[in-house]
Amino acid sequence: MAVDQLNLDNAHARIQAADSLDALESLRVALLGKQGVLTAELKRLGGLSPEQRKQQGEAINRLKGEVGHALAVRREVLEAEVLARRLATERVDVTLPGRDAGVGGLHPVSRALERITDIFARFGYDVAEGPEVEDDWHNFEALNFPPDHPARAMHDTFYFPDGRLLRTHTSPVQIRAMAGRQPPLRLIAPGKVYRSDSDQTHSPMFHQVEGLVVGEGITLADLKGTLAAFLRGFFERDFEMRFKPTYFPFVEPGADVVIRWQLPDGGSRWLEVLGAGMVHPAVLRNCGIDPERYSGFAFGMGVERLAMLRYGVTDLRAFFENDVRFLGQFR
Ligand code: DAH
Repeated sequence: MAVDQLNLDNAHARIQAADSLDALESLRVALLGKQGVLTAELKRLGGLSPEQRKQQGEAINRLKGEVGHALAVRREVLEAEVLARRLATERVDVTLPGRDAGVGGLHPVSRALERITDIFARFGYDVAEGPEVEDDWHNFEALNFPPDHPARAMHDTFYFPDGRLLRTHTSPVQIRAMAGRQPPLRLIAPGKVYRSDSDQTHSPMFHQVEGLVVGEGITLADLKGTLAAFLRGFFERDFEMRFKPTYFPFVEPGADVVIRWQLPDGGSRWLEVLGAGMVHPAVLRNCGIDPERYSGFAFGMGVERLAMLRYGVTDLRAFFENDVRFLGQFR
């Protein structure tokens, strides 16, 4: 009876006081474990008389049963508390508004390229492509820049050790489009071009769109009408347009196309927006097209430059820095 009296009240009190599953487990080990109080009592039975052993043994086993039961009851209570706490803290409030992930948008250069391509698609132009790593023939020689021609110096070309180069303009796509084909041809060639040049208005990589039309009886008037319609479509406004004579080796005559641009102060100035001209007979001949029978016009424009004008961007570098605060304005 000593064991009974000694431990039962005390054990119940301690079980009730256990305030976590860990504390309860430590208590179980202390009471019922191999080194526990009751196990120690059982071990001591060997030294008793058979009569006492029977009595004492029954008492200890009853006590073990009661303690085990009390532990199990307390465990259920504690487990229920743990579950209730989890349900309270991990509850999902389905009525909260969702988090806005933000909507992306096209890069302004992509948007300008799309506008240009769309307008020429409506005029019936095909889209042609060429490689960015070019050879001298397509980038220069076939376009009527002979070796050592001074116009080559204007191009700040990136060369590879084997003599190939990063194309400095999209004009070589003219050569690729004409070679092995006969007119009529009507195409644009959008793409990346490269020049060793970098400042507020120059980037070592930028985009151009080349245009080429070759057929019978194509004249400068066709070129002028086409570009006037294109520029009005692109800027969605009307303005004066002029051709200023200039020199490009692959056209004759060649022109800088300028438009009268309204300034915020009410004034205006002439802005260069693209280069153009009538395809040089030597270029047609280089591609196996008879210049006595066919004529053509060509034009080339800088996409970033047109995007800057259209969207009012003043620093070209903003297009390449990928600052989302800048890009987000074009959504
Ligand atoms: N390839 C010229 C450049 O990169 C642009 C150009 C001018 C293209 C006149 C043309 C053209 O087709 O006729 O500066």
